[in-house]
Amino acid sequence: MLFGASRALRGARSCHGWRFLSAVAGACANSRHIPSFGIAFDIDGVLLHGARVLSEAQRALSILDGNNQFNRKIPYILMTNGGGTSEVDRSRKLTEQLGFEITTSNFMQAHTILKSHAQKYANKPVLVLGGKRDALRKVAEDYGLQHVYTTLDVKAWNPDVWPFCDLTPEERASAKPVDFSTTPISAIFVFHDPRNWALDVQIMMDIIQSRGIIGSSGPLVSAPPVELVFCNPDLQWRSEFPRPRLGQGAFREAFQAVHQAVTGAPYPYTQFGKPTTQTYEFAEKMLHARMVELHGVSVTSDIQPRFYMIGDNPESDIAGANAAGWSSILVRTGVYDPADGPPTHKPTHEAENVEAAVHWAIEREFAQTT
Ligand code: G3P
Ligand code: MG
Repeated sequence: MLFGASRALRGARSCHGWRFLSAVAGACANSRHIPSFGIAFDIDGVLLHGARVLSEAQRALSILDGNNQFNRKIPYILMTNGGGTSEVDRSRKLTEQLGFEITTSNFMQAHTILKSHAQKYANKPVLVLGGKRDALRKVAEDYGLQHVYTTLDVKAWNPDVWPFCDLTPEERASAKPVDFSTTPISAIFVFHDPRNWALDVQIMMDIIQSRGIIGSSGPLVSAPPVELVFCNPDLQWRSEFPRPRLGQGAFREAFQAVHQAVTGAPYPYTQFGKPTTQTYEFAEKMLHARMVELHGVSVTSDIQPRFYMIGDNPESDIAGANAAGWSSILVRTGVYDPADGPPTHKPTHEAENVEAAVHWAIEREFAQTT
């Protein structure tokens, strides 16, 4: 229906962000404005500090939930470089923390994109790194990976693989019995921040240098190089501690420094997560779907939605949004601290916190309609 309508509306007055669709969208007969802009929220340093909810977060979400001058729900998603559990579990937890319904249709995390990118390894043994014990094995299996191993499985198989730590009873209980001398690992996926950097770097080196068979004397010449995938490039992130903490990007740098020192070269890898293009394209699809879900507005050549990213990290949130042609808002409640100098990537706007950011975006869109 909408396509026919948009042609009819060609002459109608239109302005960015809001559409006068009353004639067409019978369903919302009493509305003049259907929002065709959407907002993506970063989580750490914007809505949360670790487990602590920032007070302005709920006020910001309440504005998008309809408490705004348009009396309309505004489409939004939560887009984090975090991870470690399933999208269902994390969105359920976020709903409890924030008091607003977060579901898998408006929540994405660093490794969500692997649902579509890991299929080629569905039947092959792979190593998944990060998270607590084997929590990510189940997540990876739900993404379609059938032979998922962890570094704790390797340590349980042969404790001599890394002599400087012992498995806790919980870690041993989470380990899956397998003979890695006959199980060639084809790919390594770093889903979330690793817990034991030393153990993980050692096993990554063993797998990469042997092209899959841990402990074998030389590379399996017949095997292709092991693929290496990182899901989150953040060097630093903001949790409860007052200063930023090292992130998965720092782990990647540590691994590459060791690989360079041992082999003389860095190891090639695929990077997902903000600011990568794939992750912002994934987010844009999710925001489009959210618009249809909330307002039945689908994108046409006439209705090009405008997207906002509200984030605390210039390197990931702002750089990615700018590259995707979105509007970017940098807040001062996380990694970015104005005292450290200007941000490495210039945002469309800088705001004290997420609530001020939402107000700015809404007023900007409202100004377009008056
Ligand atoms: O590990 C998570 C961290 O890198 C950042 O998360 O929510 O700020 O993208 P977020
Ligand atoms: Mg953040």
